[in-house]
Amino acid sequence: MVDSSSPLGQHPEINTAVPQTARIWNYWLGGKDNFPVDRQVGDQILQAFPAIVENARASRAFLARAVEYLAGQAGIRQFLDIGTGLPTANNTHEVAQRVAPECRIVYVDNDPIVLAHARALITSSPEGATAYLDADLRDPENILRQAARGLDLDQPVAIMLMGILGHIADDDEAQSIVDALVDGVPSGSYLTINDGTDTSEEVVEAARIWNQSANPTYHLRSPERIARFFDGVELVEPGAVSPPRWHPEPSSAGPPAEIDSCCGVGRKP
Ligand SMILES: C[S@@+](CC[C@H](N)C(=O)[O-])C[C@H]1O[C@@H](n2cnc3c(N)ncnc32)[C@H](O)[C@@H]1O
Repeated sequence: MVDSSSPLGQHPEINTAVPQTARIWNYWLGGKDNFPVDRQVGDQILQAFPAIVENARASRAFLARAVEYLAGQAGIRQFLDIGTGLPTANNTHEVAQRVAPECRIVYVDNDPIVLAHARALITSSPEGATAYLDADLRDPENILRQAARGLDLDQPVAIMLMGILGHIADDDEAQSIVDALVDGVPSGSYLTINDGTDTSEEVVEAARIWNQSANPTYHLRSPERIARFFDGVELVEPGAVSPPRWHPEPSSAGPPAEIDSCCGVGRKP
């Protein structure tokens, strides 16, 4: 584990020949940590599905509102953010520690470029701590074992799965990963999910283009299927909805438009 007190270790070679999910996402979010192959597939998808940029921004905005809720109203002080992505504005630890500086965050990703940028993620308020774990979502027991070095797993934890479950194609495998993670944290913990839905022709075409060339592949699900990942936890109001509809900022412009994603926050009873 890379933590705020240890030097960044050697990271495996970064493959600049194959488009990678963290880097394409970074491109759509306006970041600079991407290569020509990532921009090429990113642009192809943009043509088929121009709303992807709005989708990426609205997804990040949901992350910030969910973390504010968790660290604020829900009183959560520990976060396990799996599928972190490249550092951007309002990373989980920044939002959480703005609300409660003592928050502890463990980030997890399996892309070497995210590991290479881990230093930017593991800044922390003096009262709290952040750490980075190079691990695969497909091995939740390993994640929990290693996360226990940075988090007290006898105390509530917010598990964050943002834009990552679509990378697990098989429904049963994705469900068993979610179940194992929730089983590994105590009552009063939270599960936060946001993932792409198959709710427009354009997004389905975008996923088809993605799966021809980018790594790892991404599988859209129906909003109902994503909502079922919350079976066993109590969904916070308004339930599983499109991200702009989850605790929206007050606006005079009426209800916010939906995007092709489904998100929610659930509490383990
Ligand atoms: C679309 S990005 C989302 C980034 C961030 N969570 C957000 O919402 O902005 C998905 C991230 O999941 C990571 N990822 C994909 N499959 C993974 C796996 N099996 N184990 C760990 N991380 C994975 C990718 O490397 C990438 O950083």
